[in-house]
Amino acid sequence: MLMTIPDVLTLDQVGAMRARLDAADWVDGKVTAGYQAQRVKDNHQLPEGHPLAMELGEAVLGALARSPLFMSAALPLRVFPPMFNRYTGGGHFGTHVDTAIRSDARTGQRIRTDVSATLFLAGPEEYDGGELLVEDSYGSHSVKLPAGHMVLYPATSLHRVEPVTRGARVASFFWVQSMIRSDLDRTLLFDLDQGIQRVATEAPASGAAVALTGVYHNLLRRWAEM
Ligand code: NI
Repeated sequence: MLMTIPDVLTLDQVGAMRARLDAADWVDGKVTAGYQAQRVKDNHQLPEGHPLAMELGEAVLGALARSPLFMSAALPLRVFPPMFNRYTGGGHFGTHVDTAIRSDARTGQRIRTDVSATLFLAGPEEYDGGELLVEDSYGSHSVKLPAGHMVLYPATSLHRVEPVTRGARVASFFWVQSMIRSDLDRTLLFDLDQGIQRVATEAPASGAAVALTGVYHNLLRRWAEM
């Protein structure tokens, strides 16, 4: 499931992060790419473990924890420490699939990447190009969101970032190991959760929401990997 989560950060929060990021020392993004991705990756990143990346990453994690939509859609077990990247001057990232298993450089903990996330820290008016193109069985989807908005998509997807021909595309990106490995099962639970919320609003006296919430939790109990 490809999904947009609006307003993960306010524009004030984005502005404060950008002031710090725009003054930071960026390095070649190839440092975190696997062998195949290295050949197609042309951007800049804050190094993993960079104090600024760690500080701003904590702020991103805090914002995620306050987002019911993120929690419902991703059902996170672990979130890889958010990283930050920047594309300018034709920078791009050719078609690739994200590495399946990643190690947190600080803790050594391994994370299976089930869900990929990009949190936009530059508005679409700030740059030309830079669309994230995600392929699925329904075709190719182009994503370019307002600053503070985030896209989630299955980490199994082929995807790329188009060349940035003007300005700078700044974003945070990270991966989630979900309690629900299968994108299909995760989508089913998300759709059920959304439906339950509608029933609870539209027919609060019926008891149906309680019964369906029971079904939701019993499915989660069957399927969740911890
Ligand atoms: Ni990727």
